[in-house]
Amino acid sequence: MALNAQQLKQFEEEGWLFFPEAFSPEECALLRAEAEGIYAQQREEVWREKSGAPRTAFAAHLYNEAFAILGRHPRLIKPVEQLFGEQLYMHQYKINAKAAFTGDVWQWHQDYGTWLRDDGMPEPRAMNIAVFMDEVMPINGPLMLIPRSQHQGNLAAQHDTSTTSYPLWTINDDVVTKLVAEGGIVAPTGKAGGVLMFHGNLVHGSAPNITPYPRKIVYLTLNACSNYIRTPTRKEWIAHTDFAPILPCDDGALLDHARRYKQAAE
Ligand code: SIN
Ligand code: MN
Repeated sequence: MALNAQQLKQFEEEGWLFFPEAFSPEECALLRAEAEGIYAQQREEVWREKSGAPRTAFAAHLYNEAFAILGRHPRLIKPVEQLFGEQLYMHQYKINAKAAFTGDVWQWHQDYGTWLRDDGMPEPRAMNIAVFMDEVMPINGPLMLIPRSQHQGNLAAQHDTSTTSYPLWTINDDVVTKLVAEGGIVAPTGKAGGVLMFHGNLVHGSAPNITPYPRKIVYLTLNACSNYIRTPTRKEWIAHTDFAPILPCDDGALLDHARRYKQAAE
């Protein structure tokens, strides 16, 4: 998935890129089943909404083979290496559930705001790359992005520890109103297997999901190795301190794993 000149220009100007159907239905079915199994576990890496429904599972690449493969998948690693011009390590890995009926809001925020304030990341040279595991629709809480907002740099933010079960450095309504007047809002939607990447300073958020359709998305946060975090304050499984470069696997590794898995079950 090498980025062409037009894609590089769109990323530079708009701050995001979307690749529909980058992963096949078979690859997504494997990941979806594995995610459900993880949410069913009682472990500290699985955070729940105030309702008790799963909100996010951290660090699944460290305890689940399918997600480990996804974490070094060339379709995700190569374009980000291309953009940053160096090798990457995994800063954060989460599987966000946005569960049917109960998936809660993600308030407007910039990710680099958290990486800077909580983790001491020197520059916004980490990338969020999202893999849709369910169909993302206009109605089930798609991720909303404010195009071009990354050009504002690191904006003032308030630490909201009460709205949801997840503490977040959020951007106030006046600033969001101004940014939206300039850039609008986009909400890329599509089938499971779509991949969305966006700049660490792009303002984004998502509404609660009151539909019967879950909206699971895996987020890899890939950091340029030279931009490793300097002053970690969060748990190691939330903001990793293993700065070893990721070595991409084969393109077919997820399917190979799915077939091995199936054979073992037969
Ligand atoms: C995030 O911004 O970290 C997650 C947003 C979402 O999954 O809707
Ligand atoms: Mn975010």
